[in-house]
Amino acid sequence: PVLVVDLGAQYAQLIARRVREARVYSEIVPHSMPVADMLAKRPVAIILSGGPSSVYEPGAPQIDRALFEAGVPVFGICYGFQAMAQALGGTVEHTGQREFGGTKLAVLESGRLFDGLAPTQDVWMSHGDCVTAAPPGFGVTAQSAGAPVAAFEDLAGRRAGVQFHPEVAHTPDGQRMLEHFLYDIAGVERNWTNASIIADQVAAIREQVGDKQVLCALSGGVDSAVAAALVHRAIGDQLTCVFVDHGLLRAGEAEQVETDYVQATGIKLKVVNAADRFLGALSGVADPEQKRKIIGREFIRVFEQAAREIALEGDVEFLVQGTLYPDVVESGGGTGTASIKSHHNVGGLPDDLKFALVEPLRTLFKDEVRAIGAELGLPEAMVWRHPFPGPGLAIRIIGEVTRERLDVLRAADRIAREELTAAGLDRDVWQFPVVLLADVRSVGVQGDGRTYGHPIVLRPVTSEDAMTADWSRLPYPVIARISTRVTNEVPEVNRVVLDVTSKPPGTIEWE
Ligand code: XMP
Repeated sequence: PVLVVDLGAQYAQLIARRVREARVYSEIVPHSMPVADMLAKRPVAIILSGGPSSVYEPGAPQIDRALFEAGVPVFGICYGFQAMAQALGGTVEHTGQREFGGTKLAVLESGRLFDGLAPTQDVWMSHGDCVTAAPPGFGVTAQSAGAPVAAFEDLAGRRAGVQFHPEVAHTPDGQRMLEHFLYDIAGVERNWTNASIIADQVAAIREQVGDKQVLCALSGGVDSAVAAALVHRAIGDQLTCVFVDHGLLRAGEAEQVETDYVQATGIKLKVVNAADRFLGALSGVADPEQKRKIIGREFIRVFEQAAREIALEGDVEFLVQGTLYPDVVESGGGTGTASIKSHHNVGGLPDDLKFALVEPLRTLFKDEVRAIGAELGLPEAMVWRHPFPGPGLAIRIIGEVTRERLDVLRAADRIAREELTAAGLDRDVWQFPVVLLADVRSVGVQGDGRTYGHPIVLRPVTSEDAMTADWSRLPYPVIARISTRVTNEVPEVNRVVLDVTSKPPGTIEWE
């Protein structure tokens, strides 16, 4: 792999993704990892990420010189660039001149990094200190107003560095610079493709599972769908999927799993229709946390029952889980694949139902999961599906959940989704909850008569990871069409309102 050494800023994941976009496999490692352990991963190149603003800050991470003496190509970015300069005998000074944000970069000598690029580059800077002299053996290839040495390279040593952030979108040619480092300076091969990812995972799953039986809970979401499809590609009918229809899904979603998905993959699927059970348990409950608890509890019971029935027929030892790379990185790394624990996504299974986990997506980012899903032939609507909460529409009905209210919300939600898709905006919007204010009524007028109906709330948001979000500035004509159609086609709804709250302070969901 290319190792991205995380020096403490938010940029390591972004760098790792950019490297993968260049078709080179990358892994993130903490800077505290001993150099010997990094080298044991047999890296084809090492990238030092950004980090704290100054190498002089107390406790600022240091780079062990041994890293530079291992003969592995190295690229330093921002703080990593300064740490590299310092370690190799250059000069880093605290000039007091800060550069932050969009900056003009003058290319002094195109070298390899800027090969074929314009002599002036827009780049994104964020630094307090600067490198004032490159280490011996390095040529200075660019400067900016606040950075006399803004880029350097040592082709013989296959090392280079930049003061700015090539990984962010604000550096428009950044990806090309990164690729110049990878291909032309480090000499790395591009071989990380959808086909290679699938082939590697198929081999790994076969090796892990052998001839044992495997179980997977499909949620209807992208991750579990792609994980199961990969496992199915590897071991075919040794995999059984369970899909619990809790009756809280959106229009067409159960059919998508039961029909389209099964047709596309040939997967063995056990559908449990548990709508009555869930609605019964939710009867009379309006409190959001209560709803969540009830749904989580019922889900485990239903899934456990199905798992037992399937386990009776064969030797089920493994459970598929759609864990993604960001979860792995954020929970402190770890490269093993076979830890034995309960399925926390479904709230923890009882102790006597123990499975080893199969996690074929644990090296992948979300966009890579989508690409793999498409490559495996999953329906487009499933691959590009927006995230949807486990408790489903129950937490989008403010008030008690009933069959009638679910029907109203489903009808309005279907219209909103249809119009978003028709406007070609599915991929610009992270999620588009539609919420029914079931206990609120307002007066309206329709035809010749007075109405006394319910409002629905449109909650389209943009986000990178759901941790923070902003309300989507959907074009007014799209909002207008949704409003007109919902009030015309859904008799119980006489008002449509738009939620213009970011997160924080609002959350994405209303409950
Ligand atoms: P909030 O509302 O907290 O949502 O901003 C952040 C993301 O999490 C989803 N979400 C859930 N997903 N079970 C889930 O599987 C839940 O109980 C749940 N609650 C919220 C939400 O849709 C958004 O993507």
